[in-house]
Amino acid sequence: MPLLEVKNLSKSYGVNGKSVIAFQNISFTLDKREFISIVGPSGCGKSTLLRILIGLEDATEGEIIFEGKPLKEAKPRFSMVFQSPSLFPWLTVEENVEIVLEPLGYTQEEREKIARKYISVVGLDGFENAYPKELSGGMKQRVGLARALAVDPEVLLMDEPFSSLDSLTADALREEVLMLWANPSLPPDSIILVTHNIDEAVLMSDRILILTPRPGRIIEDHKVSLPRPRNKKDPEFYKEVDYVVSVLSR
Ligand SMILES: Nc1ncnc2c1ncn2[C@@H]1O[C@H](COP(=O)(O)OP(=O)(O)OP(=O)(O)O)[C@@H](O)[C@H]1O
Ligand SMILES: [Mg+2]
Repeated sequence: MPLLEVKNLSKSYGVNGKSVIAFQNISFTLDKREFISIVGPSGCGKSTLLRILIGLEDATEGEIIFEGKPLKEAKPRFSMVFQSPSLFPWLTVEENVEIVLEPLGYTQEEREKIARKYISVVGLDGFENAYPKELSGGMKQRVGLARALAVDPEVLLMDEPFSSLDSLTADALREEVLMLWANPSLPPDSIILVTHNIDEAVLMSDRILILTPRPGRIIEDHKVSLPRPRNKKDPEFYKEVDYVVSVLSR
């Protein structure tokens, strides 16, 4: 049984009395320990799909099944990392992470312990008491990642998480996310990454869902068969990237 099963999902919005279809008939599965990416033109519904998965919005049609149960009954732990993390400027790094643990019934002492653990996991030891304005863009994104990991997510949803970072910082964070994903003693088990960067999708994922322009539909659920760790300079790597680009521009 797959961990997550998305079946014939569609989403439309009513805008000025007209219906705008964001995406249509999306079906895919995600297994435990699997990493999938979603690529597709701007406006094809990628962010909307993630918002529906995390429960911020409802689909218009279709179902989402988690471990055999409807998503809303299963109540899995999902968390999300955005393009830029919305940190509270008046809270320290540690408080920005602790705040997501507040509704979960931990004691203050446990919250501190968990927050410090994940601040360390993302490489921000020593910055527990810093304020967001004292951090670089990459460091802020690390805080966003620590906050997403602190709830011990079964699935981590990432919406263009590296796109606002300079390329060296983005490369370093991609490697760290891959290491976390591969480490069975740390969350997350499974990842869904939305990206416009095809190199990134090929570097990181087991499968790439390639979507059409709006209304988004899956053109191809493409398996990336390259062994890991992947090397961007490998000719096979280029072939994969070229292939995905060619499908996207069909
Ligand atoms: N709250 C909303 N009300 C009306 N229309 C919306 C709303 N949210 C999204 N849409 C529409 O749904 C479509 C998909 O939007 P979405 O943000 O999911 O695209 P995307 O694939 O993430 O694009 P990008 O790559 O630019 O981030 C767009 O046409 C957008 O205008
Ligand atoms: Mg988007």
